Amino acid sequence: MSAIDFTPGPLDRDAPFYVAGHRGMVGSAVWRALESAGFTNLIGRTSSELDLRDRGAVLDFFAEARPRYVVLAAAKVGGILANDTYPADFLSENMQIQVNVMDAAVLQRVERLEFLGSSCIYPKLAPQPIKEEYLLTGHLEPTNDAYAIAKIAGIMQVQAVRRQHGLPWISAMPTNLYGPGDNFSPTGSHVLPALIRRYEEARESGTTTVQNWGTGTPRREFLHVDDLATAVLHLLEHYDGPSQVNVGTGKDATIKEIAHLVAETVGYSGEITWDTSKPDGTPRKLLDVGLLTGSGWEPRIPLREGIADAVAWYREHRAEARA
Ligand SMILES: NC(=O)c1ccc[n+]([C@@H]2O[C@H](COP(=O)([O-])OP(=O)(O)OC[C@H]3O[C@@H](n4cnc5c(N)ncnc54)[C@H](OP(=O)(O)O)[C@@H]3O)[C@@H](O)[C@H]2O)c1
Repeated sequence: MSAIDFTPGPLDRDAPFYVAGHRGMVGSAVWRALESAGFTNLIGRTSSELDLRDRGAVLDFFAEARPRYVVLAAAKVGGILANDTYPADFLSENMQIQVNVMDAAVLQRVERLEFLGSSCIYPKLAPQPIKEEYLLTGHLEPTNDAYAIAKIAGIMQVQAVRRQHGLPWISAMPTNLYGPGDNFSPTGSHVLPALIRRYEEARESGTTTVQNWGTGTPRREFLHVDDLATAVLHLLEHYDGPSQVNVGTGKDATIKEIAHLVAETVGYSGEITWDTSKPDGTPRKLLDVGLLTGSGWEPRIPLREGIADAVAWYREHRAEARA
């Protein structure tokens, strides 16, 4: 079968476009961005309508829906605790989802597919900021290595499909994300939503001391999910290469700084302490975003404004937010 050539420029707004994981934090932001960019034929299935671990069902769905474009934002996702407790599930479920979706997309000759991974694919002690080429140059952070290996396999599958089948698919690796639709559960959440919930609850109950995991010294980068969504579309329209593309702001802050910013935003005025017996995770994780910004994209939502937006969303959707 002949290769499909990539021409930079607007995608066809009326072509069938499948967003896998369209109800998740990332998928719903991508869906909103695509809608506002004028896409008219978006396709989404919840996990109860289509379990992407079910290979037969995925092959049937692709044969019927015949998407021309796909964003693969469906995954089993969690914070340090969930990843450390259920590594087999994180590895197995993510591998199944990716392999099924990409195999089905090869059969239907999907023209543009963007696979979403995460910055945890990079070595724990990678030089900072982390360039795309540092992939597979050192040991992973052990608390989420099973998840990271699944994501690395996804990047390799995209590269292998490009080589073997001539389809111009790509991969994007976002930094830590936050914003509307985030997971606020005490056991499954990432650091920023966990802090929002903790400080909001402390403010409400009048608690005067709040303790966080770790030392507070690790540095982290955060990107608002609506900024990620514009980057996802930008890459589909402008990038064609085998290397995964880092997506972030290129700026980081200590967890302590973030905790104080969250406390200030929610209006918590008590003490902030640190349980240093708990693991910190990777000491620093800042992405080099030169490949992406060099292609003409930049983030628009500053951290302070983004945190205020995430807090407002949490307050408004608390009843239905994962909690
Ligand atoms: N959150 C972050 O900070 C972050 C950072 C970097 C990268 N990412 C990446 O972004 C992607 C999405 O993350 P997210 O934060 O949006 O996660 P999320 O909010 O938990 O959403 C995950 C989505 O995947 C779907 N899903 C999970 N298992 C499925 C299955 N077996 N069959 C069908 N659908 C299934 C869920 O569908 P239902 O809702 O219908 O059940 C859900 O909509 C992941 O690849 C992740 O690595 C996230």
